[in-house]
Amino acid sequence: MAPILTTHDLARTFETKRGTVEAVRGIDMTVEPGEILGFLGPNGAGKSTTLRMLTTLLPPTRGTATVAGHDLAREPALVRQRIGYVAQSSGVDPSETVRNELMLQGRLYRLSKAEAATRIEALAADLDLTELLERKCAELSGGQKRRLDIALALTHRPEIVFLDEPTTGLDPGSRADLWDLIRRVRSEHGTTVFLTTHYLDEADALSDRLIIVDDGRVVAEGPPEELKTRHGGSPDATLQDTFIAITGRGPKKDDLAPVAL
Ligand SMILES: Nc1ncnc2c1ncn2[C@@H]1O[C@H](COP(=O)(O)OP(=O)(O)O)[C@@H](O)[C@H]1O
Ligand SMILES: [Mg+2]
Repeated sequence: MAPILTTHDLARTFETKRGTVEAVRGIDMTVEPGEILGFLGPNGAGKSTTLRMLTTLLPPTRGTATVAGHDLAREPALVRQRIGYVAQSSGVDPSETVRNELMLQGRLYRLSKAEAATRIEALAADLDLTELLERKCAELSGGQKRRLDIALALTHRPEIVFLDEPTTGLDPGSRADLWDLIRRVRSEHGTTVFLTTHYLDEADALSDRLIIVDDGRVVAEGPPEELKTRHGGSPDATLQDTFIAITGRGPKKDDLAPVAL
């Protein structure tokens, strides 16, 4: 099968008052259909910038990418129709109900009211939102809000969904629930999941394959076990030791959370 995503030398710089920031310095990667890809790196590594480029929200300064069969630069509208995106911070309207938010999204993607209503029931069942449909978004817990964000991103049945730090700020129980849910979305619908995280344990538990980025570059890539064996010395190495071996330094405070064992 053809890859669902490829990039070649994808790069982005920002001009700021203090000079040029090289957020992403030329990334080559390939993602296969149905994979859960963990895009792992410390804060400031360039994860969100990469995601914003891949979702057509930010033009690259250099390089090319193909996403869901379409060239990012030439066919951004077609890319947008075939992807879902959950940004690092939630965009739901606190005064609306969960059902209304989902309906609005369905209508945005040009579903009829009847189609949207059917889709809402299915999504709510998939994402454990059925009991919450009449609730106002403001009344949802952090974990529930994240589940709604993901439901919104899946409304139009995208082939690939991009999740930017989906569990940051959640308590351990809600994080584990969200991991199960992400696995379920993939296994039931074959949706490719491209997720960024700075949590080593999350990347380890959830990803079929990891791409580790640091300072705007890919520094290692492979299934978690393989990376641990290759860089950490054994398949039982922690991802933390592996990360130190790869980057030559420990994760910074409040940055890469240590692997929970
Ligand atoms: N709009 C922007 N203007 C200037 N610098 C930016 C902008 N967006 C991101 N950066 C910088 O680019 C680098 C990568 O940021 P980001 O992609 O958000 O990293 P991550 O998501 O991995 O934490 C950081 O140094 C950040 O400060
Ligand atoms: Mg980020």
